[in-house]
Amino acid sequence: MTWGLGGAALVLVFLLFGTGLMLKFVYEPFPDRAYDSIVYLNNHVPFGLLTRNIHWLSANGLIMVALLHLLRVYYTGAFHAPRQVNWLIGLLILAAVVLSNFSGYLLPWDQVAYWAITISTSMLDYIPIAGAAIKEWMLGGTEPGPGTLVNFYAFHTAILPTILLIALPYHFWKIRKARGLVIPRSEEEQPGVNGALVDTMPHLIIREAAMTILVLATVLLIAMFFNAPLTEQANPGLSPNPTKAPWYFMGIQEMLMHFHPVFAILVIPLTLLLGLCCIPYLRYETDSSGVWFVSGKGRVLALWAFIIAIATTIAAVVGGEMMASSQAIGPPDAINTGLVPFMALVGVCTGFYILLKKVFKANNNEAIQALFTLLMTAFVVLTCIGIWFRGTGMQLMWAG
Ligand code: HEM
Repeated sequence: MTWGLGGAALVLVFLLFGTGLMLKFVYEPFPDRAYDSIVYLNNHVPFGLLTRNIHWLSANGLIMVALLHLLRVYYTGAFHAPRQVNWLIGLLILAAVVLSNFSGYLLPWDQVAYWAITISTSMLDYIPIAGAAIKEWMLGGTEPGPGTLVNFYAFHTAILPTILLIALPYHFWKIRKARGLVIPRSEEEQPGVNGALVDTMPHLIIREAAMTILVLATVLLIAMFFNAPLTEQANPGLSPNPTKAPWYFMGIQEMLMHFHPVFAILVIPLTLLLGLCCIPYLRYETDSSGVWFVSGKGRVLALWAFIIAIATTIAAVVGGEMMASSQAIGPPDAINTGLVPFMALVGVCTGFYILLKKVFKANNNEAIQALFTLLMTAFVVLTCIGIWFRGTGMQLMWAG
């Protein structure tokens, strides 16, 4: 039912804390020494490379596993009362996990890290009024330098781990307060009354132990054969082409190519984030907690939303690119590349919702779920395009 994803995420958190503490003994957070300390770790410290590989793999794996866990929670309706607050805590944890990864990205001080942080933080310039100040505060200056490394190191090794150390036990305590996990049931059964509860010991413990061993074995195996990336030392005077943000921000970087920056960086991400926070508090017709995809119809509609999102996002990106190269769109400004496409997006979502309700007679739960699927899939497709299908000059190209 849970696919052990929360447990797997927890194992990765433990691995990260363990290996992170070991890395602290060697790493030096100063621009002239950081890179060399990583090279030294890789080449001269016993098990140094393996430790770094495990840390890198667990960090990236955690984002993916946490996202899959979010999807599991969503599609089993485990955000309904009494688990609403725990959904919000989960989002806070996810934000801390992503920011931990982001702040760790810079620490090796190699070319890819330096320029990924430069491009990501330069996106903040587009946020009106506060953007430049936030960027300067984060960077400890106007561009990445010694102050940035000290700031990122403090966030990475003190502030964010502390947030996780407080939020994670709270997350687990809230599960207990909700009298355990949501109980799987069919559409016809009433919530909370079907089936007998299973004992934690041995059922849950055996499953969690199996998951722990599986995660540890997988991470160790990959870490033995796959090295965490390290390019040449950062050169602030020479940017690689293309310069890409870390993979989990590529969806936003891709949006930047289609929308006015204020909308790509601020309006759309904030709207989506707010939407995610509101999910447990929307008005639903039924309590579908414990039923995968709300119902049979919900499953079919979600599948269609998934297919439609893939097709339309790809078509929009390719179509937009062709229009841009044939100069069909005038000079970018907040109206024609900002407000107009944003309102078109809102229109498509509203139209889709009405279609589901009126034509397919979906209930609220099913329609909201299909909309969630549509937006999530579109964001994932944008992320994939940004990672694999953008080459030199961020031109579209076939995989690479
Ligand atoms: C590092 C990240 C996270 C860790 C380690 C974690 C851990 C866990 C664990 C161990 C469970 C119980 C078992 C399971 O579902 O596998 C759980 C349940 C839950 N998690 Fe998370 N979680 C994380 C992130 C999130 C996120 C991002 C969300 C959603 C926004 C979330 C929302 C929930 C909810 C609502 C439950 C209760 C589910 C139920 O009753 O079935 N968690 N989490």
